[in-house]
Amino acid sequence: MKILIINGPNLNLLGRREPGIYGAETFEKYLDELRRRFPGTDIEYFQSNVEGEIIDRIHQAGFGADANLNTDATHPDGGLVDGIVLNAGAYTHTSVAIHDAIRAIKTPVIEVHISNVHQREEFRHHSYISPAASGIIIGFGLDGYRLAIEGLLQKAESKG
Ligand code: DQA
Repeated sequence: MKILIINGPNLNLLGRREPGIYGAETFEKYLDELRRRFPGTDIEYFQSNVEGEIIDRIHQAGFGADANLNTDATHPDGGLVDGIVLNAGAYTHTSVAIHDAIRAIKTPVIEVHISNVHQREEFRHHSYISPAASGIIIGFGLDGYRLAIEGLLQKAESKG
């Protein structure tokens, strides 16, 4: 089972960015813990501040080498995965293009937000990702990524 975590803009700054909201732990350190917790699962991590790069990675996750990308930044093994955990950051609230990319693939996508976006500014209350996602986890801090992986593994198991 291969799972891809995609973090969008500004999430490279986790641990340093608004720690009162997003916590003091870096994602790299948390990722080590996640990988130890799921030894039988291949967890790949991709972070980008660029909307198009996130879309390219979603296409690769769904279509592998057949993604037909007009870029040299192709994934070494095609990039196909069994499930995606996506925190699109602020693109959540703006990106019809990421919505369409998720709709274009069959791979299940779980939307994650570290903070409870519904307790925050009004502009964070709408998500373009939610209608295309298989599931949504909001407001559990970094633990939301673990919960999303548990959900994907459970889904895969119940499918047989
Ligand atoms: C976020 C919430 C978004 O509104 C914000 O733009 C982020 C992070 C979260 O994980 O809580 O960058 O997705």
